Amino acid sequence: MNPGDAKVMEMEISPNTQYNKLRTSATHSLLRLKIHYCIPTTNPQGVVSFANAENWLMHDDLAAFINDHNRFNKRCCAYGEGYTGTLRLRSAMATHLYTHFQPTEAITAEEVTFAAGVTNLNKTSASILCDPDQDDAIMLGRPVYGAFSRDLAMRTNIHLEYVPVGDTEQISPACVLAFGAGFEAAKARGINVRALMICNPHNPLGQF
Ligand SMILES: Cc1ncc(COP(=O)(O)O)c(C=O)c1O
Repeated sequence: MNPGDAKVMEMEISPNTQYNKLRTSATHSLLRLKIHYCIPTTNPQGVVSFANAENWLMHDDLAAFINDHNRFNKRCCAYGEGYTGTLRLRSAMATHLYTHFQPTEAITAEEVTFAAGVTNLNKTSASILCDPDQDDAIMLGRPVYGAFSRDLAMRTNIHLEYVPVGDTEQISPACVLAFGAGFEAAKARGINVRALMICNPHNPLGQF
């Protein structure tokens, strides 16, 4: 095999394999980094990293809460109540969402699903909402979290429609006109926008 053949083979691997390779290489680059982070007491000159959307201010509280409250129930060792979270967990989240957002209708545990991370939920939502054979798409304001393109579209093969909204806050009604125009422009090209992705809190703009 010569180098040209290798390139052709690389192009022919399935989207799933490409996706896994990309994730693996991203993880490897993270593992290879030896960053000397800033620790006020022992390494005050260290790096304060803004590379990832991580809320370090919460880490102590989060770790303390998990360590104090974690009681593992042996029922979770089996399939138990299914793979979308226990009824207790889903009920607690339904109550929290209802209390916090005060929607007009009650939220029930049956309407809540848990998954291992937002990346997974995004991919699953894209597969449920859109049919790649029907030229379905999800619309997003721009700028936006770059990995949405990988998480929403790489495995599902759906379209993404980006709408630049400049300085306008992407979660404000001021964007409605731009999104409406983006919807119509996509339709004129034969693309069916099935959903609008609103990122809140916004990455990278930090609006909420
Ligand atoms: C907007 C947004 N969505 C998804 C993710 C990834 O979330 P998870 O690590 O839960 O898969 C991130 C991570 O920074 C993010 O900023």
